Amino acid sequence: MASTLEYTKLTFPLNTGDKIPAVGLGTWQSKPGEVREAVKVALQRGYRHIDTALAYGNEKEVGMGIKDSGVPREEIWITTKLDNTWHHVVEEGITSSLKSLDVDYVDLYLMHWPSSTDPDDKKKHLPDWNFVKTWAEMQKLPESGRVKNIGVSNFAIKNLEILLNDESCKTVPAVNQIELHPNNPSPKLVTYCKMKGIHPTAYSCLGSTDSPLYKNKDLIELAEKKGKTVQQVLLMWGLQRETSVIPKSVTASRIEKNFELDGWELSDDEMNKISAMPERFKVCGDAWLPVKVFFGDDE
Ligand SMILES: NC(=O)c1ccc[n+]([C@@H]2O[C@H](COP(=O)([O-])OP(=O)(O)OC[C@H]3O[C@@H](n4cnc5c(N)ncnc54)[C@H](OP(=O)(O)O)[C@@H]3O)[C@@H](O)[C@H]2O)c1
Repeated sequence: MASTLEYTKLTFPLNTGDKIPAVGLGTWQSKPGEVREAVKVALQRGYRHIDTALAYGNEKEVGMGIKDSGVPREEIWITTKLDNTWHHVVEEGITSSLKSLDVDYVDLYLMHWPSSTDPDDKKKHLPDWNFVKTWAEMQKLPESGRVKNIGVSNFAIKNLEILLNDESCKTVPAVNQIELHPNNPSPKLVTYCKMKGIHPTAYSCLGSTDSPLYKNKDLIELAEKKGKTVQQVLLMWGLQRETSVIPKSVTASRIEKNFELDGWELSDDEMNKISAMPERFKVCGDAWLPVKVFFGDDE
């Protein structure tokens, strides 16, 4: 890959013909009072992709940050997600998100988890419902123009197979947003998604809050050798694997640093060394859900 490549302007093609910006700003755990400014700073710095979710409780402030930035709506890629307790009311879910964000459409609407949780008792799965039925409802959304692309999140190969093999599945998800970092690289899942024409987006791409990766001696050494930060190296590893990355920060200086990704790259040897890191940890488990969604093989 040419070292002159501008990763901050790079997009990845989706199976719909659309193009998702390779670098976005994550907003999970970005609190009200912080996230509006973070979104504004990011967009003014050049980010063109913002990732939020109904479950994050910050869509309203994300929308305000987008307006504050002065960047035209059509230049920005907005992803939001259908919450688990809204699976049976997809229309209401997207209507709520659009209202909170104060936009007419989102670029990508994801099923946040393959878990149709009972809103009255979050320990229970909804009776007579499942993620295949949720997807059947989501497939209707692009017709309205209120959603440009639909996708999934936290789908393991096993659940993707169930979805794709169901006769009701007419639209292959454009994206699967999954946890990906060197300690949870999921090579089989990434390869499977690409083979099926599903673009993988890497969440917790830095290892999330209090990331152990920031203290990893090999990564620190590599970053120092390259004159980069550990976070920049982690993002570049994700980008060179052809996954989009959505680092979260509410700190202006970090938001800026995380976007300094142009004109350099990791060598094949450096990529391989990072990919071969033996440590394993996962930020997001499934113990809090009424159903298992990770099966311990490659996620
Ligand atoms: N689909 C899903 O189920 C799912 C699950 C998890 C995450 N996500 C999405 O993926 C996004 C990213 O994942 P994440 O929020 O788990 O974590 P992340 O982006 O891997 O890491 C965020 C953490 O790293 C810190 N940080 C960021 N840049 C830094 C830098 N340059 N130097 C030092 N520290 C830095 C942040 O601190 P400060 O903010 O304090 O600066 C924050 O504590 C989320 O925000 C969300 O949009 C989706």
